[in-house]
Amino acid sequence: GRPAPSAVSGASGASTADRSAASGGREATGAVLGVATGSSPLGTYAELARRVRAGEIDTAGVSAFALDEYLGLDPTHPESYHSVIRRSVTEPLGLDPRRVHVPDGAAADIRAACLDYERRIREAGGIDLQLLGIGANGHIGFNEPTSSFASRTRLKTLAPRTRIDNARFFGSLDEVPLHCVTQGLGTILEARQLLLVAHGEAKADAVARMVEGPLAAVCPASALQLHPDATVVIDRAASSLL
Ligand code: GLP
Repeated sequence: GRPAPSAVSGASGASTADRSAASGGREATGAVLGVATGSSPLGTYAELARRVRAGEIDTAGVSAFALDEYLGLDPTHPESYHSVIRRSVTEPLGLDPRRVHVPDGAAADIRAACLDYERRIREAGGIDLQLLGIGANGHIGFNEPTSSFASRTRLKTLAPRTRIDNARFFGSLDEVPLHCVTQGLGTILEARQLLLVAHGEAKADAVARMVEGPLAAVCPASALQLHPDATVVIDRAASSLL
């Protein structure tokens, strides 16, 4: 089975103190989970959901922040990440929808919406555990190749490869949005722990470049080498080029 992070239940001790300090003394309860879309973390979500149902995990105070969203897709569209996160995270894990945040790709003022998203993460006390998948081109979130390691939540243009990879969720390639809003690499690196999951041969090259390649903007996932507490969980096929 895939990994199930153990740090999702109620926060305590230093972690709460850190959050309280980071949010200017505001009282924060519960862990703050960073959640990714894509197929890679689905096994993790299923295992978490099982533990929630079994009463092993209490998600009452848990908040979640998604990495990214398509630009210009109505949040009610079945493939918007608002919808995907509701289906794969909010509902199965029994999270309070008011505590689940997804970047606003339909805002009239995207710049302001991005700043607001960063502010909400800060006010929640920062992300405790960020789940990640990896794109075949080495992207994390929608930080496509050439993303700055210092980047924050912002508008990005999707790489042609990403649009082709994600076309399976839409009627045709033409229906895949051209742009997105994504947390930056700088935002992601501020999470206290990172957990990246990848499986299958199609990810082998990106995994090798992430783990053993140089730190390089052409492989945004190589930024994980800078993080003091990053775990990568891969199957044999995804590890075949290491
Ligand atoms: C999308 C998401 C990424 C995800 C990637 C890989 O592009 N924005 O966060 O990691 O897809 O998806 P999958 O896990 O389905 O291979």
